[in-house]
Amino acid sequence: MMQPNLIPVFDPTPLPAPYWVFKLLLIVTFFLHILAMNFMLGGAVLALASKWRSRKREDGNRVFFEIAKKLPIFLPATITLGIAPLLFVQVLYGQFFYTSSILMAWPWFLVLVLLTVAYYGFYYVSFHSRKHPGRAGWVMLFSVILVCVIGFVYSNNLTLSQVPSRWGAKYFANPSGWHLNLSEPTLIPRFLHFFTAAVAVGGLLLVFVALANWKRDHEYGRQLLQFGGKAFMYATMAQLLVGVWFLVSLPREMIMLFTGASPFATALLLVAVFSASGAIFMMSDALRKENIRVAAYYVPGLIALVILTMCVMRDILRDAYLKPYYHPERFVVQTQWSVLPLFLVLFIGGVVLWFVMLKRYGLFRSAKAAEIPASVGPQPAK
Ligand code: HEM
Repeated sequence: MMQPNLIPVFDPTPLPAPYWVFKLLLIVTFFLHILAMNFMLGGAVLALASKWRSRKREDGNRVFFEIAKKLPIFLPATITLGIAPLLFVQVLYGQFFYTSSILMAWPWFLVLVLLTVAYYGFYYVSFHSRKHPGRAGWVMLFSVILVCVIGFVYSNNLTLSQVPSRWGAKYFANPSGWHLNLSEPTLIPRFLHFFTAAVAVGGLLLVFVALANWKRDHEYGRQLLQFGGKAFMYATMAQLLVGVWFLVSLPREMIMLFTGASPFATALLLVAVFSASGAIFMMSDALRKENIRVAAYYVPGLIALVILTMCVMRDILRDAYLKPYYHPERFVVQTQWSVLPLFLVLFIGGVVLWFVMLKRYGLFRSAKAAEIPASVGPQPAK
């Protein structure tokens, strides 16, 4: 049976800036969103791992407490930095993104509820881990699960938005808005790819906290460096396998794209894989020599390059999926020169302000001694 064309008509409203400006902003803001999400999710996962696996209970609790204090900062950062790509994705891919959002309307609405509950959980942990350290661990686990469910819903929506050929069958089988995209072969490896990256970047967050403590409480700083650095290394090694799984789960033409058919896409993949492998070796060397500078500056620098490269690759992949349906050359552009420079200046100013705020309110800073429970506070040197 012929499937009806469910792609809404192209929006004739002119773009207020050239197409490439929106594309660039989409990629840059998505990069920032995913960075904040990685710090939040990866940080929380490693805080739990440290709490429940540490042989010395006080040390595990201290790392847990330290990260718990930062989570109510990282979650709103993830949300605010998510709104920007949400706007740009609607401008450029609205025809596809709106339709998939309608097909999975209920899970999509549910994201707001899950987000609110997860947020409460992180606040509870941040305020009450002192009085109820045991309960705080379970509440944090609950919030982490909710955050993972949100990420999974996003992966469903974004993969569904790329395959208009599947919409008709889904909608006519059940128009109630309760769909996901579970039959998508790339869904699980794609989601795991994001999750594993979050754990690796969470490891780097611990390395930053190690740097903040390096002089003040050297022994604690060393422990954080070892724990965070190893988490980063093992997660990135696992990522090399998950990444291959993701690649081979793609349709054949897309695999070809990254393995020679498109020199640009292939070069990006090579840069990403070699940089990630290089970062593993650098971190391993930094851990052996306890070189905090390499671990806290050079490795994160290299990983930022890898994530940015991956964001561009993800965008190439979306355009490859949508090639038969998406015609960006049809956009009418009427650049609003009176507001565009102002927007760009405010945008850059806003991003800089974010970093200043994060730095000032707790990204690299350690919890104040007064905030650390007496039982897990800095111990006097023996
Ligand atoms: C706090 C929980 C959140 C998590 C764990 C999360 C995670 C993710 C993940 C994993 C993706 C990539 C999905 C894929 O490509 O398969 C993604 C994409 C995206 N997220 Fe989030 N997200 C969260 C919250 C938000 C919020 C609240 C917003 C908006 C206000 C948002 C906006 C976006 C947008 C617009 C994209 C797609 C960008 C594009 O396609 O280029 N996210 N998110």
